[in-house]
Amino acid sequence: MRAKLNIAVFASGKGSNFSAIIDAIEAGTIREAEIVLVVSNNSDAGALTIARNHGIPAMHLSEAQFGSEGEFCEKLLQELHNHHANIIVLAGYMKKIDPTIIRRFTNRIVNIHPALLPEFGGRGMYGMNVHRAVLASGASTSGASVHIVDEEYDHGRVLLQKPVPVLPGDTPETLAARVLAVEHKLYPEAIRLIAEGQLALDVEQPTSSTSQ
Ligand code: GRF
Repeated sequence: MRAKLNIAVFASGKGSNFSAIIDAIEAGTIREAEIVLVVSNNSDAGALTIARNHGIPAMHLSEAQFGSEGEFCEKLLQELHNHHANIIVLAGYMKKIDPTIIRRFTNRIVNIHPALLPEFGGRGMYGMNVHRAVLASGASTSGASVHIVDEEYDHGRVLLQKPVPVLPGDTPETLAARVLAVEHKLYPEAIRLIAEGQLALDVEQPTSSTSQ
């Protein structure tokens, strides 16, 4: 039998993706899933307020509260264990996930990125930087990608993507808003598919000797 998804959400910002996921769970669109914990490294994150308003355990945890990154990770892992989390959903979490956490949750951490990976991903590709780069490239299509998190920025296997047109006269802000509206559908959809076992997290990547 498939285990229910016990989701820990990590978020640093306003939490609109997190909100879309809660809505889908509360509406019964995503079944067999519960948000068991929300963690933010930013005490002012909207995501913490949203969580508290929905009665979801929420905590501000930042490495600045601990003596070292190791102690911070130990505390995070302890909280994930205490709340029985079996998947981590990153929703605008502005901190690289430490390898200690990735190893404990291999193929069990997902993220949403506001472009069509592998394009426009990697170090420094966050927030408006992504949309600025898309516009500067002259691409006619951008999009959103849900992917597995591994030890490299925006690098793990893509699980689900949706294209978004770039329109004449777009600014980074107008493009970001169009992409974000798609994210709010795509992320709950990806989680629904994972919860229903239709989107496998653990598929082995075929190895290939030819470079791509
Ligand atoms: C989204 O654009 C997402 O793609 C990126 O961070 C942003 C988070 O926005 N990873 P919000 O906090 O969910 O509103």
